[in-house]
Amino acid sequence: MNQRMKLTVNGKDRRVTARPDAYLIDVLRDDLALTGTKYACGMGECGACTVLLDGEPVFSCLTLAIETQGRAITTIEGLTRDGVQDPLQQAFADRGGVQCGFCTPGMILSARALLDEQPHPTEAEVRRALSGNLCRCTGYAKIVESVLTAAEE
Ligand code: FES
Ligand code: FES
Repeated sequence: MNQRMKLTVNGKDRRVTARPDAYLIDVLRDDLALTGTKYACGMGECGACTVLLDGEPVFSCLTLAIETQGRAITTIEGLTRDGVQDPLQQAFADRGGVQCGFCTPGMILSARALLDEQPHPTEAEVRRALSGNLCRCTGYAKIVESVLTAAEE
C-alpha cells in the first residue's frame, strides 16, 4: 500500500505518495522529475545514482525513500543556485571531466562532499573520494583534474 512521505530535496519540502519499499532514486526520477540522478547498475557498484544525504554521498538505488524523511537530500539539480553553477560543474565542463556525462552527476556530488569537508584535497584524497564512482569514458585523469581545479578556485 502506498504511503505519504515528506522529503526535503534541494532545500524544499516535497510530498510524494509511494510504496514503503520504493528506492530514493525512483522517487526522485519518477515522482519528482529530478532526472539528473542516473540509474545504471542498481546494485551499489557504479555510483551513477549518488546523491547527498545530510551532506554525505549515498547510493540512491540502495536507499529507501521512506528512510530519508527528515534528512536533507541534495541532487545534482540542487547544486545550481539562482542560475549559478557550482564551481565543480563549471570545472568539469572546462577541464573535460565530462564525456558521455552519465557518471557526472554522481561524480560531482561525491566531489562536493569531499570539498565541503576538505576544501584543498590532495590528488590521492580526490581519487579516494571518487572511488565509488565508475566512469567508462574518461580514464579518470580529467575528472580528478576537474575536482582539483574547482578546489583551487
Ligand atoms: S545505480 Fe546505484 S550504484 Fe549503480
Ligand atoms: S563520462 Fe561517460 S561514464 Fe563517465
